[in-house]
Amino acid sequence: MTELAGRVAVVTGAGSGIGAETARLLARRGATVVVSDLDEPAARAVVDELVDTGATATAVATDVSDEHQVRGLFARVRTDHGRLDVLHNNAAAMGLATRDPGAVRLDAEVWDATFAVNARGPFLGCKHGIPLMLDSGGGAIVNTSSISAEVGEATITAYGASKAAVSQLTRSVAAQWGKRGIRCNAVAAGLVLSPSGLQLPEALRAIYLRHTLTPYLGEPEDIAHVVAFLASDEARYITAQVVRADGGLTDHHPILADFRDWVADSRAATAPAHPPALTRGTTP
Ligand SMILES: NC(=O)c1ccc[n+]([C@@H]2O[C@H](COP(=O)([O-])OP(=O)(O)OC[C@H]3O[C@@H](n4cnc5c(N)ncnc54)[C@H](O)[C@@H]3O)[C@@H](O)[C@H]2O)c1
Repeated sequence: MTELAGRVAVVTGAGSGIGAETARLLARRGATVVVSDLDEPAARAVVDELVDTGATATAVATDVSDEHQVRGLFARVRTDHGRLDVLHNNAAAMGLATRDPGAVRLDAEVWDATFAVNARGPFLGCKHGIPLMLDSGGGAIVNTSSISAEVGEATITAYGASKAAVSQLTRSVAAQWGKRGIRCNAVAAGLVLSPSGLQLPEALRAIYLRHTLTPYLGEPEDIAHVVAFLASDEARYITAQVVRADGGLTDHHPILADFRDWVADSRAATAPAHPPALTRGTTP
């Protein structure tokens, strides 16, 4: 598929995980991809891989929390490519999650550092990317949000709040620039087995899987496909949306997994008798 041929895409946090997978997919679909990451060697490695496949890609080291660097990123895109069609604001300071407990124990510095990257980063991306996008006739912005923005979390207080900011930024940008041809959407990802997701202890991943409606957890490419769709012309009537890609984790009755266990236990206890009758309001 080459539906993005002639388009220029910037992906932040593209040296790893979801961003790297999105860069690969956009390149496969014909886009010129600017692979941006704080980690320059990681960005270069992704670019080398893309160029080996015949794609056009460049690496630009950028700290998305630094306005000077973000301005420089888009100035470079203007000079090198003269246009911007797709912006995937994806970078986040995932390493701070281990220092992000409940609100009372959370250091204010960690809150600030989390917001500096996760919320200020996408804001700066929009602030400096939109003028270039407007000059080239509009485009699509896709921000990476999280289901942590939508549910109460036992920990990662700052992370969830920063992602709620991203979701709201998405709606505001869509409202402000829609008439000028810019769509802005977000993907609220559930647990994804990127290098960051794989840091979670196996037992915790098992808990996520138990409460996910699919028989598997997400892979980076599952999110990349949603981003690529939202970035494409096929999604031209979709804007201001936060699309959940979480295997249904946040869209079912919270007792579902326990209920299944209860049914199974009841069956085992009464076997070979019939399973317990469902009562009104319970979910099979
Ligand atoms: N993995 C998950 O379970 C999950 C779930 C929901 C949302 N997300 C979101 O997906 C996005 C990507 O996460 P991932 O799982 O691929 O993580 P990852 O750690 O694999 O990749 C994150 C990338 O961002 C880069 N980065 C960090 N700080 C940066 C900065 N200041 N400037 C520029 N780049 C910076 C890192 O160098 C890294 O390459 C994030 O926005 C994250 O919040 C991830």
